[in-house]
Amino acid sequence: MKIKSANFVISNSNVRLCPNELIPEYAFIGRSNVGKSSLINMLMQKKSLAKTSGRPGKTQLINHFKINDNWFLVDLPGYGYARVSKKEKKTFQKYITDYFKEREQLVCAFVLVDIRHEPQNVDLEFMEWMGENQIPFVLLFTKADKLKPQVITKQAEKYITALLSGIWEEAPQYFITSSSNNTGREDVLEFIDNINEQYFKATKK
Ligand code: GTP
Ligand code: MG
Repeated sequence: MKIKSANFVISNSNVRLCPNELIPEYAFIGRSNVGKSSLINMLMQKKSLAKTSGRPGKTQLINHFKINDNWFLVDLPGYGYARVSKKEKKTFQKYITDYFKEREQLVCAFVLVDIRHEPQNVDLEFMEWMGENQIPFVLLFTKADKLKPQVITKQAEKYITALLSGIWEEAPQYFITSSSNNTGREDVLEFIDNINEQYFKATKK
């Protein structure tokens, strides 16, 4: 898919105030600092579209970006960041759960995990919650540039094996990405393009 335009639309702390256009939407979620905002910029090849930071807790709202004038990407605050106050954590958690429960336009979420890490409870629990609420998601491994090629596949396979030994009967689809060297860009965009095509066919737009 060719990206012809990618523009920031609006930031919200309430899912009910998000844009009401019925076009397909994809949300980026995962622990703080995992690279959600960076990945959005990498996919769109626009450096400062989504705000990034070396310090966790940068994205604090539900941010909508309109792509090619006919679909949305959504940057969300991270979960599981220990240094924000308990009250703040609860507030973020509420935006996020309300967003996923109520957002009709959401066709697929991208759950991001750092390829270097072993499966963490906070991520496994989040994926479980997505499953229970029947919210479709795929897994995106981030920061693949930090590992040697032969270790990357092993880490991903290990992660999938861990999921299968847990509650999952079927492993989620996954992509390996790096915002530093554009790994995974074509594959993720093609994945989105295919879903968009089905969506527009079904809604005869
Ligand atoms: P919050 O908004 O705080 O939840 O974080 P986020 O998940 O949006 O992470 P962000 O994109 O702001 O990136 C966090 C840090 O990781 C930044 O210092 C990025 O430069 C770095 N980073 C993100 N993606 C990659 C990657 O693919 N490779 C490398 N080496 N660093 C990355
Ligand atoms: Mg962010």
